[in-house]
Amino acid sequence: QTELFEVDPLSDNRKLYARAAEALGAGALVGIPTETVYGLGADALNPEAVARIFEAKGRPSFDPLIIHVHHGSEVEKYTAVPEGLKDLVHTLASRFWPGPLTLVLPKADIIPDIVTSGLPTVAVRVSAHPAMRGVAKALGRPIAAPSANRFGHISPTSASAVQKELGGSIEMILDAGACSEGLESTIVRPVLDEKGKPSLELLREGPVTREQFRNLVKVVRRKPSCRPVSEESPADAPGQLTSHYAPRKPMLLLEPGENFAPVEGVKYGLLSYEGTSALAREGDWAEVVAMSPGSGRLAEAAVRLFALMRQMDENEAIDVIVAESVPESGLGRAIMDRLRRASAVRE
Ligand code: TXA
Ligand code: MG
Repeated sequence: QTELFEVDPLSDNRKLYARAAEALGAGALVGIPTETVYGLGADALNPEAVARIFEAKGRPSFDPLIIHVHHGSEVEKYTAVPEGLKDLVHTLASRFWPGPLTLVLPKADIIPDIVTSGLPTVAVRVSAHPAMRGVAKALGRPIAAPSANRFGHISPTSASAVQKELGGSIEMILDAGACSEGLESTIVRPVLDEKGKPSLELLREGPVTREQFRNLVKVVRRKPSCRPVSEESPADAPGQLTSHYAPRKPMLLLEPGENFAPVEGVKYGLLSYEGTSALAREGDWAEVVAMSPGSGRLAEAAVRLFALMRQMDENEAIDVIVAESVPESGLGRAIMDRLRRASAVRE
C-alpha cells in the first residue's frame, strides 16, 4: 500500500522528512518531489533497495540512476574528481546548486555498481526542493532517484501522477504539489579536452540552458544521443532511448514548417504552444490545449508540458496527439528534445 503525505509549505516538515528517511533506511521506495519532476527514491548505498527501483519502474538495469545529496559539500564523499576538473566542478556547483543541474563524475568506491549500471562514473545533483534535500539530510546518505514513472512513460510533475504510475508498488509518496521546473535536470559531464582544458559534454538538455554555461566553460554537444543503448555500450549514451517520455497514445510532432495532414476518421488532439496559431484556430480538433496560453513563454510551457501530455493521453475523445513545435532556443531546446522523444517511433 502506498501512503501519501502532504508536505506543508508553511512548516519545516522535519518530522515528515525524518519519517521518509526512516522508511528509506529500511529499504523502502519513496516518491519524493524535486523542482524538476518527482523522483522515485531509494537509499543509494543499499543495493537491494536500489534494485527495487529498477523493478518498480520496469527499467532496464543498464540505465544508471542519479544520486541526490543535500549539499554540494557531500559530493566529494561519493565521487573522485581528478585534480584538473576540481575548479570547474566547484564553479558549476556554486553557480547552479541547489538546482536542476546533474554532474556526471568519476565515482567513489562506496557507490554500489547497481546505481551506475557498472559505469565508472556517477550522476549527482543537489535539488533545490526542500523535500528532496530534507529527506537526504535526514537519511545522511545519498538518495538514488530516477523520475517516478514506469520506464519510457511521461515523467510525473505531481504526486497524483506518481500515484498513477507507481501506486501500489512503492511505500510512500510525499506530495508537495506541482514541480516548479517541469522538465528533468540538465545533465553534463565535465571532461578534459585534448589540450587538457576543462570542458563540458552536454548529455541531456534541461532547465539549465547552454546559454547559461557560455561564459563559464566550453560546451560540446555529445553526438546524437537519440538512439537506443545496448548492453554492449552502456557508457556511450545510457538512458538516452529515442522513445522516452512517451504517452501511451501515438504522438506526432510537427517540426517547424511541417504541415499537418490528417487522416480521415482519426480523432486528433492538439498540444499547441500558445493556442493562437492558425492550426489551433482552424483545425478540426477533439481538444486543443496550450502549453503557454496566449503568451508563448517557454518557462511556462516547460512547467505544463508533461501534465498536458498526461491530460491528452487520458482524454478518450482523442486517438492521436499532435504537437506544435516551440522556438528552439534556451529552454525551447529541452522542450523540443522531450517532444521529439515522445513522438519517436516506439522500439
Ligand atoms: O530532474 C531529474 O534529473 C530527475 C529528478 C528526479 O532528479 N531524475 C531523472 O532521472 O530524470 P532519470 O533516471 O529519469 O534520468 C537520469 C538520466 C538517465 O538518462 C541516465 O542514463 C543518465 O541520467 N545517467 C545516470 N548516470 C549516468 C552516468 N554515470 N553517465 C551518463 N548518464 C547517466
Ligand atoms: Mg526518467
